[in-house]
Amino acid sequence: MSAGRTAAPASGQWVFHNGDFVPAADVRLGPSLQALQYGTGVFEGIRSYAAGPDTAHLYRARDHFTRMIASARILRIAIDRSADELVEITTELLRRNGHTGDAYVRPLAYKTALEPGVPFGVRLQGVSSSLTMVSLPMGSYVPKEGITCGVSSWRRIPDSSLPARAKITGAYANNALATDEATQAGYDDAIFLNQAGHVAEASTANLFLVRDGRVATPAQDSDILEGITRDSVISLLRRDEDIEVEQRTVLRSELCTADEIFLTGTGCEIVPVVALDGRPVGAGAPGPVTKTVMRAYEQSVRGREIRDHGWLTQVHEAPVHL
Ligand SMILES: Cc1ncc(COP(=O)(O)O)c(C=O)c1O
Repeated sequence: MSAGRTAAPASGQWVFHNGDFVPAADVRLGPSLQALQYGTGVFEGIRSYAAGPDTAHLYRARDHFTRMIASARILRIAIDRSADELVEITTELLRRNGHTGDAYVRPLAYKTALEPGVPFGVRLQGVSSSLTMVSLPMGSYVPKEGITCGVSSWRRIPDSSLPARAKITGAYANNALATDEATQAGYDDAIFLNQAGHVAEASTANLFLVRDGRVATPAQDSDILEGITRDSVISLLRRDEDIEVEQRTVLRSELCTADEIFLTGTGCEIVPVVALDGRPVGAGAPGPVTKTVMRAYEQSVRGREIRDHGWLTQVHEAPVHL
């Protein structure tokens, strides 16, 4: 793959916007954009990983787009393409931008403007939709030696109010409040409890805990995003280590007595939590299960696994004709 085969736009980066690849500077979104006003957008974060000196592959891109299409259905956002077509577009975007190293892709589908004759107001029907996708270089950014977390006083928005299983832009104000509180208090990240007071997830990551050799993670009905990294970890532990992860209600008190806690997410990958609310987790250093998961996930995203899960998509060397 070569960055030079498509002439770079003046701004230096291509963006996929409403069906075309355009220079980033040509995307103009106005102040009356519905998604800006009301938070009615859905998005994904997808990573691609360098797979050689001049090639990369996307990790679980099809699963990310399948989730995005499901999120969009909830908000009646029209995405007129299949997950496979969106994967094709993504590989072409990376190729055009010359992102053959580790990179991050951010697709965003959102409500744009009221259709002619539709009265002013907050609504989902009668509002047009757009799709914009950007890519940027991004390596691992979370310290492998672990982070500190605090349990947030902000509770996770319940499914009955705004489904956490959908990555809805407006819902991330909830996450921003929690991270703001956590960082002001000197922690690296926040852990959300749900309305029932049970553990949900971190600000932008799912949570796993290890206690007496058993691994657990909050179940899908705990007001979590059904994380794709969470799913990878459950699969990798089952297939490679013969460990069945318990997906269940997790009590806050279990966090205080856990031997290990780690977070999982596309962006942060696998992150050990070494202290919670000012108490060390276990020995206050990444534990053996966490280290095993970190190794297995690294192997998985780099395509070094013996088993082929079908999770990798090669970024094209040649242009794709859409
Ligand atoms: C709230 C929330 N939970 C969990 C995750 C982890 O999900 P995934 O592993 O699919 O990236 C994310 C990141 O997208 C998130 O924003």
